[in-house]
Amino acid sequence: MSRTLPAGRRIVVSEFAESPAEAIEKFISIQPMAAPDPAELGAGDVIVEIKSASVGWVDLLMTSGQYQHMPSPPYTPGLEYAGIVAWTGSAVDPKRARAGDRIYVDGFLAGPRSVGGYQSYGGFATYAVAPIEAIRQLPKTFSFDQGCNLLGNYETAWHCLIARGQLKAGETVLIHGASGSTGLAAVHVAKLVGARVIATGRSADKLAIVEAQGADHVVRTGNPDGSPGVRRFRDDIKALTNGHGVDVVYDGVGGDISLETLRCVAFGARYLIVGWAATPDVARGKGQRGAPNANMLPTNLMMMKGLSVLGSPTVLSTLHDPSIRAQRIGQIMEWVEAGKLRPYVSHVFELSEFKRAMMAKWTGAVVGGCVLHP
Ligand SMILES: NC(=O)c1ccc[n+]([C@@H]2O[C@H](COP(=O)([O-])OP(=O)(O)OC[C@H]3O[C@@H](n4cnc5c(N)ncnc54)[C@H](OP(=O)(O)O)[C@@H]3O)[C@@H](O)[C@H]2O)c1
Repeated sequence: MSRTLPAGRRIVVSEFAESPAEAIEKFISIQPMAAPDPAELGAGDVIVEIKSASVGWVDLLMTSGQYQHMPSPPYTPGLEYAGIVAWTGSAVDPKRARAGDRIYVDGFLAGPRSVGGYQSYGGFATYAVAPIEAIRQLPKTFSFDQGCNLLGNYETAWHCLIARGQLKAGETVLIHGASGSTGLAAVHVAKLVGARVIATGRSADKLAIVEAQGADHVVRTGNPDGSPGVRRFRDDIKALTNGHGVDVVYDGVGGDISLETLRCVAFGARYLIVGWAATPDVARGKGQRGAPNANMLPTNLMMMKGLSVLGSPTVLSTLHDPSIRAQRIGQIMEWVEAGKLRPYVSHVFELSEFKRAMMAKWTGAVVGGCVLHP
């Protein structure tokens, strides 16, 4: 097929900043974008007219160079996006994709986190080009907003909780950062395997949504007087577990919260290191490395609790062993098709509002997903 595509717009990161907040203020702009020219594309390529792009934590980290691999500026952010097929190359099987199909894109195989030629096409744009291998049909009941909040979040939740944490029905899991996009996915996945979920967060309003999304119990971690830091929440967790402590911890927050958590885990618990949202500047900005020791855990408590501390990097583990991916995607899609799993998106912005969207994510205003509509 061939229809002339009108010009569009894209968000451009012109250089790395010291921090995402500085990048948003100084180094990210909206610019005109010519539609991709089919004459310059490969036979297995697909042009996507983007309808929704997820604003993810990793998109933010990348703007200050803090991610294990990323494009060099200038580049367009947007690891995960969903939209409509606008053009397909001559070798694309129409059973896999044809013009007009509602699709979402696998961020492992296209976009800024992918490796290779498609890295330059991010989702914060009117159009992107992706290889047919990266194109997945949107589940019929899903919106575009849900499509671009599926794989990254739920693959992370599944990899951490199930592949690494071996979470089982009847066990109790403590989920820190439960209002976040991967944290809320972890709440959903933990409930789907039959675990009991204690979800934590700093805001009562956001925790009310997390509870409505399935958490069995919610616990606030902030100080009652609003001062910075983490309150002594170990007593709440012990009370909720009859003094036993939790069997598994999903820690996407790090810092003080991790230290307090070591006081309320069961003997032999599995402690999943998922991320460090509370200490995001562990690597220096502008793409330099050299992370200071931001998240140190005391070995005496690990020892006395018989703790298994499990680093749980989804992307790196999958790059080391690509065979681990099929099982988790298979399980996630089974839940989606059964109507048991639906990503939650709290914030939607137009493309021109990219600064507000990125700041909303960076300052923790969001529950679940935050998206841009190009
Ligand atoms: N292991 C993996 O494979 C993997 C994959 C993706 C992401 N990650 C990492 O996991 C972490 C969470 O990612 P995400 O996408 O879920 O992020 P997110 O959507 O921004 O959520 C992070 C949550 O952390 C909580 N939080 C607590 N203290 C915070 C603080 N001082 N500053 C900011 N947030 C704080 C916030 O909840 P409240 O406001 O309710 O407290 C927020 O909702 C990040 O470090 C990310 O890099 C890991």
